[in-house]
Amino acid sequence: MNSYDVADIKKAKEGKLKIEWAEKHMPVLNLIREEFSRTKPLKGLTIGACLHVTTATANLMLALTAGGARVALCACNPLSTQDDIAASLAVDFGLNIYAIRGEDNKTYYRHIDAVLDMHPNITLDDGGDLIFILHKKRTKQLREIIGSNEETTTGVIRLKAMARDNALKVPALAVNYSKTKHMFDNRYGTGQSTIDGILRATNILLAGKKFVVAGYGWCGRGLAARARGMGAHVVVTEVDPVKALEAIMDGFEVMPIAKAAVIGDIFVTVTGNKSVITYNHIKKMKDGAILANSGHFNAEIEIEQLEKNTVRKRKMRPSADEFTLKDKSRRYVLAEGRLVNLAAAEGHPDEVMDMSFANQALACQWLLEHKGKLENRVYQLPDSVDWRIASLKLKAMGVGIDKLTAEQQKYLSSWQEGT
Ligand code: ADE
Repeated sequence: MNSYDVADIKKAKEGKLKIEWAEKHMPVLNLIREEFSRTKPLKGLTIGACLHVTTATANLMLALTAGGARVALCACNPLSTQDDIAASLAVDFGLNIYAIRGEDNKTYYRHIDAVLDMHPNITLDDGGDLIFILHKKRTKQLREIIGSNEETTTGVIRLKAMARDNALKVPALAVNYSKTKHMFDNRYGTGQSTIDGILRATNILLAGKKFVVAGYGWCGRGLAARARGMGAHVVVTEVDPVKALEAIMDGFEVMPIAKAAVIGDIFVTVTGNKSVITYNHIKKMKDGAILANSGHFNAEIEIEQLEKNTVRKRKMRPSADEFTLKDKSRRYVLAEGRLVNLAAAEGHPDEVMDMSFANQALACQWLLEHKGKLENRVYQLPDSVDWRIASLKLKAMGVGIDKLTAEQQKYLSSWQEGT
């Protein structure tokens, strides 16, 4: 018998259809799932996952279960759970699942504990919460862990800081470092789903707006490109001179956030850092400015400070709150400053999560194959996994590519041939 805590099991029927829809858009994960069903590489393992509870995640959980693992899942963000998917996983697929959209902080951590109560041997994090709680509160369980996968840039930053301080007590695998993850999920996934979240939350026209993107990592690059595609005038803010230069040569305007604050209509943070937009910046913004965050944590915009300086707060639409300041000017914050793409929309399309979660599934297998041989540091999957996933994706798309001839291979590996 599985255990679960979900919002409403009556939503299962709807959720099951959406999971099936997603499955059709995840060909690479499906192939891995078929292989896992035959070979059962994860037999005997318990996998604890703290991920966004979406259609894509559902299909990952089913692939891991097909591989023979016992799986327990909780949400990695209180606002990103799709309750119908959680219900279907509990009722139709017998998964141990603890996730309710809008859960309070106490419930959020109770759900993390419920997953850890299953004594996982491998953890899957998106943002590092499972591994963080294990290190902070449940240290005895650390010796049961073979390794821990991390999905996102923010989580990898945390893990690297832990490794640097010799505080990391398990091997960690940065799934985010796979090319078939960050170059597609972070760029095209965040690019599209962030715009999707903003539009669902506001129904505004992007054409002609000043659209400020804070951060020009892979997520920022994708978002800036997509916003430009919708006709917005995109301004980029950065702290890294190389990335700033890249943004300029990609055709965007670059300036400090304090300057952008005055001219922007829409602001989106995608940095993975805190206090990127401070109350001081917010104060300078135009009446009606819209603020959203698509980085993992809701720490990028100083919303607490904004709350403190607000004379009236109104919920204008399900994911859009209006804050009226003392001078009567208004600011609009989307999805409470949490990941706008998951809280106001459905996250990245399943087609892109196909590759991210193919990496997650193969990362579990890789950890098991290297059990006992790894140090407590941050690893990444070998290039061969990227090649395999990319080749399978191309095949599913019906795209052929060329092969090096023997002569070309020899040329590339020699140094004698000159001009
Ligand atoms: N992160 C971003 N989009 C996601 C999705 N659709 N499913 C799971 N995690 C995600």
